[in-house]
Amino acid sequence: MNILLTGGAGFIGSHTIIELDKAGHDVVVVDNLCNSNPEALRRVAKIIGKEVPFVEADVRDRAAMEQIFTDNKIDAVIHFAGLKAVGESVSKPLEYYENNMNATFVLLDVMRKHGCKNLIFSSSATVYGDPAIIPITEDCPKGHCTNPYGQTKSMLEEVLIDVQKADKEWNIVLLRYFNPIGAHPSGTMGENPNGIPNNLMPYITQTAVGIRKELGVFGNDYDTHDGTGVRDYIHVCDLAAGHVAALKAIDRKCGLAIYNLGTGHGYSVLDVVNAFMKVNGVNVPYVIKPRRPGDIATCYCDPAKAKAELGWEAQYGIEEMCRDSWNWQKNNPKGY
Ligand code: NAD
Ligand code: WQD
Repeated sequence: MNILLTGGAGFIGSHTIIELDKAGHDVVVVDNLCNSNPEALRRVAKIIGKEVPFVEADVRDRAAMEQIFTDNKIDAVIHFAGLKAVGESVSKPLEYYENNMNATFVLLDVMRKHGCKNLIFSSSATVYGDPAIIPITEDCPKGHCTNPYGQTKSMLEEVLIDVQKADKEWNIVLLRYFNPIGAHPSGTMGENPNGIPNNLMPYITQTAVGIRKELGVFGNDYDTHDGTGVRDYIHVCDLAAGHVAALKAIDRKCGLAIYNLGTGHGYSVLDVVNAFMKVNGVNVPYVIKPRRPGDIATCYCDPAKAKAELGWEAQYGIEEMCRDSWNWQKNNPKGY
């Protein structure tokens, strides 16, 4: 298939290009580079041995999107583009709602105009809020999102469900990612956050490489095995492969489908720190800090549905995730 990746220069999108290429798909990337670097696409090109067709444009730019669909016969879209920093979304709610919602509205409208009604959407475990059941299945009711970023994902899921309900020609897969970490095993591609990282793994790697003095562990009084927060970390290459698998659902005209993409294993903050130090033989100094507002104790999924229906399951464990995250950081201490 010929797949358009919005936000394809970003962390998950760039890794997904490699998996799509391996599976024999062609790609076109559109990205406004507001949170990415075109060097990521050059690194992808080195790995796959060919240039990645790239249009630098904003998905909210209708004329630019029309042009992409006129110039290319697009069979399906994977919609990664969006702003994703939870903390920033609290201080800039309007920017987050405006970008994430409007980009999706423009995309959907241009897609239907061009008769392309196959979409994979980057959703998030955040839509479960403080989950009603653990492990989280896709039937778990959605919960209250404590930040505008999470609200955009939850609201966009509703928009997409309504769009598909109104027009059964649409095939829409909502992929609820858990916590993507890791990097391409080559060590040439990985996560490249701007400024001080919000997420755990980039904070760990930047501490290990000496950019940050110490990791703050946000709370050690949760109801978990060691008191620190438990999450379902998934290797970004596994997550990328999940998109290739989701195309199978599109291919068999799934209508609306929802899948959790996680490993099904929960690791605490200290589990991750200890695994990282052990696997890589480096020290990660840390201090216990107060809980971070909005955080929950435990979040991990039941990935059985994706396995049963898409034949997909995560291959990498926490050791490989820690190894590849470090391999990327130590080879590229300043990112791209
Ligand atoms: P990322 O920021 O690395 O990639 C997103 C890309 O979208 C960036 O390259 C950015 O420049 C681009 N972009 C943003 N707004 C755009 C616009 N209006 N027009 C064109 N390009 C635009 O983030 P990521 O980690 O690769 O995440 C990809 C998607 O997955 C996002 O939608 C994110 O919300 C979702 N997601 C991420 C995580 C995570 O922890 N990384 C977890 C769950 C869901
Ligand atoms: C993981 C654990 C923190 C940083 C977020 C979004 C979610 C999804 C994935 C997009 C928690 C602890 C973290 C640090 C720490 N993104 N931590 N010190 O919060 O599970 O999920 O990213 O959809 O929507 O909310 O991920 O990596 O920020 O935190 O102790 O410096 O690490 O408290 O327990 P989170 P995270």
